[in-house]
Amino acid sequence: NNPVVAIDGPSGAGKSTTAKTLATAIGAGYLDTGAMYRAATLAALDAEVDLSSADEILSALNEAKLEIGTTVEDPYARLNGESVDLEIRTERVTAAVSQVAGHKKVREHLISEQKAAINAARKKGGIVVEGRDIAEVVAPEADLKVYLTADEKARASRRALEIGATASDTAEDIKRRDKADSKTTKPMEAADGAHVIDSTKLSVVEVVAKLLALLND
Ligand code: CDP
Repeated sequence: NNPVVAIDGPSGAGKSTTAKTLATAIGAGYLDTGAMYRAATLAALDAEVDLSSADEILSALNEAKLEIGTTVEDPYARLNGESVDLEIRTERVTAAVSQVAGHKKVREHLISEQKAAINAARKKGGIVVEGRDIAEVVAPEADLKVYLTADEKARASRRALEIGATASDTAEDIKRRDKADSKTTKPMEAADGAHVIDSTKLSVVEVVAKLLALLND
C-alpha cells in the first residue's frame, strides 16, 4: 500500500484538481512539482541572476530556503520562510519558468528533493505527484502512471478561469510554454506504461473515478 501516483501532462489538462481530489480520496499526500520549479524561478529572479546560467541559478537556490508542502490541506510554497503561493503564479514567474526548468543541473537539484519527498511518503500514506516528467524520471517506480491531457481549447479556457485571464492570452501562453517545455520534458508524450486520459469531455469526478478504478485493479 502507500501508493505513489504520477500525474503528468501539459498545462490546463486538469492535473492539479485531479491530483488533489485523488489524494484526498485515498488519504495520500500531494506534491506539485511545478510549484517547485516556479519557486526556484522566483528565487533566481529575486537574486537577479543570469537565467541562462545554471550555475548562477543553483547558487541562488543554495542561498535561498525553499519549502513546499506535501499535503492537500496545505500545499504551501515558501521562500526564506515567507509564503509565495500567489507570487509563484504571477506572469513574471510564468514567463521565466521554462528557461529555469530547462537547465539539467537545476532539474537534478529539484528532482533529488522530489525523490526525497516521495520516499518519505512511501512510509506514510503514499503520495500523488503532479508534473511533466514524474513517470519518466522522478518516480519511474510509481504504482500508477497517468498522462492527463485535453484539447487545446479546453486547456486554455480552464487555465484562463484559474488565473482570471482571457482565453486567447492564455492560449498563447500555453502554446509558448508547451513548445519551450517540450525541449526538456517532452510534455506532449505519455511515458511508457502510463494510462492516457483525455479529460476534454470529462468532469474531475469522472477522471478521479477512472484513476481509483485503475489503482484498485
Ligand atoms: O501552469 P501550469 O500548471 O501549466 O504549470 P506548472 O505545473 O505550474 O509548471 C510550471 C512550469 O514548470 C512548466 O511550464 C515547466 O516549465 C516546469 N515544470 C517542469 O519542467 N517539470 C515538472 N515536473 C513540472 C513543471
